[in-house]
Amino acid sequence: MRESVRLNLHGSKTRVIFDIDEALPPVEIDPDQMHQVFGNLMLNADQAMPEGGDLVIRLRRGSLPSVAGNTSGDDAAVIELIDQGEGIRACDLDYVADPYFTTKKDGTGLGLTSAFWIIQGHHGHLELESTIGEGTTVRIFLPFSRSATTARRGGLLKSPAGVHRGRILIMDDTLQVREVLRMMLESLGHEVVDTPDGKACVEAYRTALTERNPFDLVILDLTVPGGRGGSWTFKQLREFDPKVSAVVASGYSNDNILAEPRAYGFKDRLQKPFLIAKLKTVVDNVLAKGRK
Ligand SMILES: Nc1ncnc2c1ncn2[C@@H]1O[C@H](COP(=O)(O)OP(=O)(O)O)[C@@H](O)[C@H]1O
Ligand SMILES: [Mg+2]
Repeated sequence: MRESVRLNLHGSKTRVIFDIDEALPPVEIDPDQMHQVFGNLMLNADQAMPEGGDLVIRLRRGSLPSVAGNTSGDDAAVIELIDQGEGIRACDLDYVADPYFTTKKDGTGLGLTSAFWIIQGHHGHLELESTIGEGTTVRIFLPFSRSATTARRGGLLKSPAGVHRGRILIMDDTLQVREVLRMMLESLGHEVVDTPDGKACVEAYRTALTERNPFDLVILDLTVPGGRGGSWTFKQLREFDPKVSAVVASGYSNDNILAEPRAYGFKDRLQKPFLIAKLKTVVDNVLAKGRK
């Protein structure tokens, strides 16, 4: 965390005040992903205080709030980032974690989105509280580790337990779709390579095979305007790897392949826009079968 502060706020007018309870039990995190989360959050706080101000980073003990999918009430580490910035309008608060929501001229709107997903991938929870003109508090809850083997003090170095890491190749012609899909999959713990068209996808798949680092799964966009879409790509892939695992993705629901993906050799289908819970189920299922 201190490392993140040094990297992200170097030379800024923001003053960071730590308030850390050092005696907390460990939590299991993926260090790269957590760096990404704190980087995004610190950048937001910094940008909200262009004239400078205090950013309090507090770590304390608390309990998981009751939100869907969580065992609420469990003991958890609570990390708060409290800034004195411009704040978020109440009407925007529900939308700030949506992909592409931004109020900045050159914002991407992906910082909070990825933070939110990554924390979810750690079985935690992220919430925001803000008063316009006074500041914003981002609060992250992370459950304490249950396994005694990882219980070394401050041992924040393990990946979330039970995550099936896969190597996933994606093909979609739209940059934004690729970015969101990549972020979702990475927040679920997978390694992702993305390609913009069928030809690049086939090339990447073949290279990986010859380098003996094959992909476990390919997610193919069905329709690529004027180009070689999911069907064409799938046919090519099957020619040099008959056992390729592929999932078809589309925004159109009235297509034959999408209606009956298995009849065409696909393992499953994904309807756009992607929902992370659905994506997780489909990917976990296909990966689990592929390993049998
Ligand atoms: N600490 C903060 N203070 C004020 N507004 C914030 C803060 N964090 C996020 N926001 C609001 O949420 C929006 C989305 O944030 P984010 O997903 O990181 O995208 P970006 O920073 O690229 O706009 C921001 O544009 C801003 O309006
Ligand atoms: Mg941001």
